[in-house]
Amino acid sequence: MTYQPRPDRYDTLSYRRCGHSGLKLPAISLGLWHNFGGVDRLENARTLLRTAFDGGITHFDLANNYGPPPGSAEETFGRVLAQDFLPYRDELIISSKAGYGMWPGPYGDWGSRKYLLSSLDQSLRRMKLDYVDIFYHHRPDPETPLEETMAALDHIVRSGRALYVGLSNYPAALTRQAAGLLRSLGTPCLIHQPKYSMYERWIEAELLGVLREEGIGAIVFSPLAQGLLTDKYLRGIPEGSRAATPGTFLKPDQITPVKLEQIGRLGDLARARGQTLAQMALAWVLRHSEVTSALIGASRPAQITDALGALDAPAFDSGELERIEQILSGQM
Ligand SMILES: NC(=O)c1ccc[n+]([C@@H]2O[C@H](COP(=O)([O-])OP(=O)(O)OC[C@H]3O[C@@H](n4cnc5c(N)ncnc54)[C@H](OP(=O)(O)O)[C@@H]3O)[C@@H](O)[C@H]2O)c1
Repeated sequence: MTYQPRPDRYDTLSYRRCGHSGLKLPAISLGLWHNFGGVDRLENARTLLRTAFDGGITHFDLANNYGPPPGSAEETFGRVLAQDFLPYRDELIISSKAGYGMWPGPYGDWGSRKYLLSSLDQSLRRMKLDYVDIFYHHRPDPETPLEETMAALDHIVRSGRALYVGLSNYPAALTRQAAGLLRSLGTPCLIHQPKYSMYERWIEAELLGVLREEGIGAIVFSPLAQGLLTDKYLRGIPEGSRAATPGTFLKPDQITPVKLEQIGRLGDLARARGQTLAQMALAWVLRHSEVTSALIGASRPAQITDALGALDAPAFDSGELERIEQILSGQM
């Protein structure tokens, strides 16, 4: 049956300006790292994407290597796009990335012009797209001159393959340097994609300040610490969860008794605020004005629906923020 998106899809989610750019992103964006690969059920992937778009999520984040196997998440996305979303292409912000190992030999990894251009061409073919909205360098390359990588990003925009470019996993000082190079080339850096959650706070020290000064937005990944910051693991590791799936980056030994105690207490605070823990964890990353969007993952539609309510509760007061710090620092 032809997909008809909900007519009221733009009524509830907020859209936040990305740095000093003209682009707004939804407060919640959906990433396709897990659950969209060739090993996953296509119908579930399709339902997740429809649920997101129906809820006002306009931004879908991919990378060349998402799967497994690598590349297959882009193929899945291309298939669903062709089936359901082509009439809405201009309502979507689609991103991809290159920077991790993708194909054998010296040209399928890191940050050379050769790799970035070839990889993006492959991504476009897999998704059956003429262009992506945002293309990222996925991680810094310690050997390729930064000038070469940034010139490749500039060329990617000038050649029409992407509308904007971004950086992911770049530390603060390198971000400033890269942003300066991109500005001098005439292609400003739109966005930075770092990892950020209550359990991963490296961006607070310096990166957020650099982003504010440079006018770059942030879209933060794994804001739920891959599912830890939900009630999912409170009664053990459920079958089919990420921690129970071999080959993922959430290992059972990361779910420690101390974390479970903290998660229980954070859950109590969330309930007192009228939220689920997942909603509170998302509102918490979005409390910074530099953070444009929280980039979630999902294995089932209800997780997306839950996340969409993250900003329904009132903003945190200072007592609540202090309580979160106490819980995270072990003074429970
Ligand atoms: N740039 C980079 O280097 C980089 C690296 C990693 C990720 N990313 C991007 O960030 C996106 C999100 O990363 P992530 O998936 O780690 O984010 P996340 O939102 O922290 O974790 C998502 C996972 O948490 C669980 N979950 C979500 N909502 C839940 C709820 N309400 N109740 C219970 N469990 C819930 C689900 O896992 P289950 O499968 O257990 O249900 C879901 O797949 C990726 O798709 C990708 O686009 C980027």
